[in-house]
Amino acid sequence: MSSTDPMKRLSSHGSSASIEEDPAAKRQRLERFVADQQLLASQSIPTPQTPYVIYTQRLSEVYRKKILVTGGAGFVGSHLVDRLMSEGHEVVVLDNFFTGRKANVEHWLHHPNFSLVRHDVIQPILLEVDQIYHLACPASPPHYQYNPVKTIKTSTMGTINMLGLAKRVKARILLASTSEIYGDPTVHPQPESYWGNVNTIGPRACYDEGKRVAETMMYAYKMQNDVEIRVARIFNTFGPRMHPNDGRVVSNFIIQSLQNKDITIYGDGSQTRSFQYVDDLVSGLIKLMNGNYDQPVNIGNPDEYSIKEFATKIRGMCESQSEIKFLPKVADDPTQRKADIRTAKREIDWEPMVTVDEGLKKTIEYFQREVEAAGGEIVPTGPDAAKPKGAN
Ligand SMILES: NC(=O)c1ccc[n+]([C@@H]2O[C@H](COP(=O)([O-])OP(=O)(O)OC[C@H]3O[C@@H](n4cnc5c(N)ncnc54)[C@H](O)[C@@H]3O)[C@@H](O)[C@H]2O)c1
Repeated sequence: MSSTDPMKRLSSHGSSASIEEDPAAKRQRLERFVADQQLLASQSIPTPQTPYVIYTQRLSEVYRKKILVTGGAGFVGSHLVDRLMSEGHEVVVLDNFFTGRKANVEHWLHHPNFSLVRHDVIQPILLEVDQIYHLACPASPPHYQYNPVKTIKTSTMGTINMLGLAKRVKARILLASTSEIYGDPTVHPQPESYWGNVNTIGPRACYDEGKRVAETMMYAYKMQNDVEIRVARIFNTFGPRMHPNDGRVVSNFIIQSLQNKDITIYGDGSQTRSFQYVDDLVSGLIKLMNGNYDQPVNIGNPDEYSIKEFATKIRGMCESQSEIKFLPKVADDPTQRKADIRTAKREIDWEPMVTVDEGLKKTIEYFQREVEAAGGEIVPTGPDAAKPKGAN
């Protein structure tokens, strides 16, 4: 009893031995299936968060690596994943989705080279990998101050667990450290040789000191167990997929400007920062991982702005009517920050390529989509500790 309706025949496939499929139709269906699978294995699928296609190379076994990215569903991690996937590597993301979002990597979920594991790095895990980019840790002050004990556990126990894994499977591991290890610096700009000026008991200490001890653990494992390590000291970074409620300067200023609301500056705005676009950071991380240099390397854009200048620039680019409003300074906010990147230039042949203006243009477009998706209003997070919106 064979149906004449091809849809019926397709949908009944495998359900009854007595239903036969026309051989030509079957071949066509299989060919289409194979073509679909090949297409899916060669590119990302556009999603609201990533509304374009990223193509993936086919790498031979010799060059293809298994790469673990902890915190890969976060802002920086998801851009790193895009680059590693496009190069043709196998990528495993470990994330507990505290500040990260599945939407940041949703465009890869179908791809055979990609795996996503919900896992908290404070618990050990066994995996076979060649390289580990260890990024898991909330990075914005309101978010890392929300649960300071957990932030410390993430940097200490999380890094110990990843180092233990690297040691067991002989993987090279890169730590995403931070310019915050310099604290409120008394040397300007900050070279890697500067030891920092950090308040060990202040509100930022859970993050700053957590990263400092994470660096210490990296070098202890190198000395004692020959683990291959890399340490990136990352300076302020911005770009699409920043958490809209993370309360950082770039996200807040853009969101406030786009909604014509007051732009809030904590302090008199004379404090300085240097801002790098996320694509530059990703290039720096990959160069550092694959180079030979194993001492800490600053990765940042040395273009320095006062916060007030930066707010004015963003307001202008958003063609906004917002007023700039000054609020009391927050505790332990560094007064100046500027990357000395001579080591990166010399040792890994890296320097930023994207201007702040180019980067801001793309970031503003992203936040325009976020504001629309939120129904036209996002209330930016202030400087106080706050649970990330959508955290689970
Ligand atoms: N963005 C910056 O300007 C900047 C500057 C310096 C350093 N860094 C470092 O780079 C890394 C990434 O920062 P980001 O801006 O992408 O932050 P982010 O908050 O967007 O990403 C961090 C990711 O780690 C995940 N995570 C947090 N705790 C975890 C845990 N215990 N187990 C598993 N996953 C966990 C989060 O869910 C998130 O996906 C962080 O280590 C941060 O310290 C970032």
